[in-house]
Amino acid sequence: MKKRILVSRQFPDAGISLLKKEDFLLTIWEKQRPMTQNELIEQAKSHDAILCTLTDRIDKHFLEQCSLLEIISQFAVGYDNIDIDMATRLGIPVGFTPDAMSEATADIAFGLMIAVARKMFFLHKTIIKGQWGYFNPTGNLGIELKNKTLGIFGLGRIGVKMAQRCKNAYNMDIIYHNRTRDKDAEKLLNASYVEFDDLLSKSDVLSVHCALTKETKEIFNGTAFKKMKPSAIFINTARGPIHHEKDLAHALQKGDIWGTGLDVTNPEPMQQDNPLLSMENACILPHVGSGTIEARNQMSVLAATNIIQFYKNRQVPHIVNPEVLEHLIPET
Ligand code: GLV
Repeated sequence: MKKRILVSRQFPDAGISLLKKEDFLLTIWEKQRPMTQNELIEQAKSHDAILCTLTDRIDKHFLEQCSLLEIISQFAVGYDNIDIDMATRLGIPVGFTPDAMSEATADIAFGLMIAVARKMFFLHKTIIKGQWGYFNPTGNLGIELKNKTLGIFGLGRIGVKMAQRCKNAYNMDIIYHNRTRDKDAEKLLNASYVEFDDLLSKSDVLSVHCALTKETKEIFNGTAFKKMKPSAIFINTARGPIHHEKDLAHALQKGDIWGTGLDVTNPEPMQQDNPLLSMENACILPHVGSGTIEARNQMSVLAATNIIQFYKNRQVPHIVNPEVLEHLIPET
C-alpha cells in the first residue's frame, strides 16, 4: 500500500518535488496559516508520516490520536514542539534539519547585534514619524563592538558561526557556557569556557544559541539580567521562552542592560502593543533566522530525504532519537 504523507505547510519545492517523485500519496495543507490543533489531528490521523514544523504541536494528545504515524520529519533544527520522549517510547523516529540554517541564523544574530549597538530600528522609525531633525553631535549615540567580549550561551553549530563572525569583524574575545565543554570549538575560536554567572557578568554581548529545554526555560530572567553589565546587549535567536520577556523589558527600562535584539519572542507572534517594540535599544524580528532561499531549500530537501530514506532503507539521515531505529523491525 502507498504510504500517506501529510505535509503541514507549503514548504519549498526543492524537497516537496523529491517526495512527489516517490510512490507516496501526498496531502499538502495549502493555506498560508498553520492548521489549528484539531485540523492537524484530524488530518494526521489517516497518515503514515508527517512533514511538520515548529508551529505544529506534536504533543501527547496528538500522538495518542495519530496512532498510524511511523515517522515525524520536522522542518526545523529545533524540535521543542514535539514530545520526543513519547515519540521515542512509541518507536517513532523524529527527523530534523540541522546545519542547513546555521549561516542564515548566525547572520541574523550578528545583524541584530549591530542594529542594537547603533539603535537602527528605532532611528528608522524616527524618520517615518518625521522626526529627522538637525545633525546632533551628542544625540542618538550607539556603542562600538571592537575588542568587546562575546558570550555565547549554547556553543553549537549556530553559536560557532556567530562567534566566528564576531571574531573576524571585531576581534571580539569569545567566552561560552554549555552543558558540556567543547574543546574543539575552544581551539577553533580561542574561546574560554565559563560558569553561567561569569557569562552573565563578563559578556558585552550575550547571544543565546541553545535549545529550549526544562533547564533553559526562562533562564534569562530578572535575576540573570541584574548580573549583566549595564552596557550589555542581549541577543536571542534561539527560542523565545528561554528569556522571561517581562523581566527583559523591565531590565531595559531600569538600565540593568543596554539593549536587546530578538528574533524570537514569547509568545509568538509578539503583540503590537508589547513595550519592547517602542524601546530605543530593542530590535525585534519575526522569527526569520532561517529565512533565506538557500537555507529554506536545504531544510526542505533534508526533511524530505529523512522520509524517503526511512521508507527506502529504514535510515533517517538526520535523526533526533536514533535509538528508535535500532529497534525497528525491517519491513517485508
Ligand atoms: C527555527 O527556529 C528552527 O528551529 O529551525
